[in-house]
Amino acid sequence: MMSAQNRRAPLSGSSIKPPHRGAFPLKNYLSEKRTLIDAYLESYFSISSPPQILHEAVVYSLFAGGKRLRPILALTSHEVCGGDPRNIIPQASALELIHTYSLIHDDLPAMDNDDLRRGKPTNHKVFGEAMAILAGDALLTEAFSMIGEPANRNTGPGRKGTRQQKATLRITHSTIAKVIHDVAKAAGLLGMVAGQAQDIIAENAEPNSDVLQFIHFQKTAALIKVSVRMGAVLAGTKKDRVDALTRYGEQIGLAFQVIDDILDIEGTAEELGKSPGSDSKKKKMTYPALYGTEGARQKAKELLNGALDSLGIFSREADPLRHIARYIVGRKA
Ligand code: IPE
Ligand code: IPE
Ligand code: MG
Ligand code: MG
Ligand code: MG
Repeated sequence: MMSAQNRRAPLSGSSIKPPHRGAFPLKNYLSEKRTLIDAYLESYFSISSPPQILHEAVVYSLFAGGKRLRPILALTSHEVCGGDPRNIIPQASALELIHTYSLIHDDLPAMDNDDLRRGKPTNHKVFGEAMAILAGDALLTEAFSMIGEPANRNTGPGRKGTRQQKATLRITHSTIAKVIHDVAKAAGLLGMVAGQAQDIIAENAEPNSDVLQFIHFQKTAALIKVSVRMGAVLAGTKKDRVDALTRYGEQIGLAFQVIDDILDIEGTAEELGKSPGSDSKKKKMTYPALYGTEGARQKAKELLNGALDSLGIFSREADPLRHIARYIVGRKA
C-alpha cells in the first residue's frame, strides 16, 4: 500500500514548499517504523487464545495491511522530541488496535455496511456480525492493556546521560496513566465514538460546516492528534512543544479525513482496498458534499499549511513530521 502512495510526489504543482532542500527518504522512514510495529504486533498475537474464532477474527483485520499511520506518528513524534522510538513500541502499537477496532465496527451493516476493507472482505463478512463486534470490543480493551505494558528497557543508542536515555527514564507510571487518560478521551464518548455517532445521525442531512467539522474532528482527527501527543508526552517534552505537536496532530488529522472523503469519490477499490462511493450511497456529510471536490482539496491544503506552521518552534528535527503531513495530503490511498 505504502509503495504505491510514495511513488508519487506528494502535492506536485502545489504552492507548498518542501521543508528543506534534498530528498527525504520518506518511504524508507515509514517502512522502518512500520516494521517495528508489525514485529511487535505479530509477536503479541502469535499465541492463539480460546475461543480460536475470536482470535482469528482479531488477527484477520489487524494483519490485513493497514498503513499503520497512527503508531508511526507516535514513534516519529517521540523521536522528534529526542526519544528512542524503540522504547514506546507497545504504547504506539496500541493505537493500531483502537484504529482497527474502529474500522471493523465502522464497516458493520448497522454502520457503513461495507464489504471490502484493507483489500479483503470485511470482518463481519467472514466471521459474522457477532464475532466482528466482539473482535472490535477485544481490540479496544486489549489496547489499554498494551499501553500498560512496561516500556522497553532498550539500551541501544541512548547511552548513559544522553538526551535519549533521559527520555527513556522519564517514562514513569504517572506518565503512562496520563497517556491512558488522553487516549481514552480521544477514543470514547468525547472523541471518536462521538464522531461516529454524529456521522450516523447526519446521514441524509443538509451539509452544515459546524456539524461536518465536529464529525471529522471527532471521528478521525482525535485519534491522530492523540497519536502525535503520545510520542511527545512519553518523551517528557516541555508543554509548549506538546501543545505545538497537538495543534499539528489536529490539523493533519482533519486533513486526513478530508482526503479520505475525496478518495471515496476519486479512488479505485484497488488503490484504496475499500469500495469507493460508500459515502454517496449512504448520503454522508462529507467535505466534498459541502465544498465540492476542489473546495475540499483546498481545505486540505490550508490544513497542511496550518500543520506546518504549528511546527514553527521546531527546526530540522521535525522534518519527518513535515514530510508525513505532506504525504497525508498527497496520498492516493
Ligand atoms: C481509514 O483509515 C479510516 C479513516 C479514519 C479515514 P486509514 O486510511 O488509516 O486505514 P488503514 O489503517 O490504512 O487501513
Ligand atoms: C471512519 O470514517 C472513521 C472511523 C473512525 C473508522 P469513514 O467511514 O469515512 O472511514 P472509511 O472510509 O470507511 O475507511
Ligand atoms: Mg464511517
Ligand atoms: Mg466507513
Ligand atoms: Mg471514508
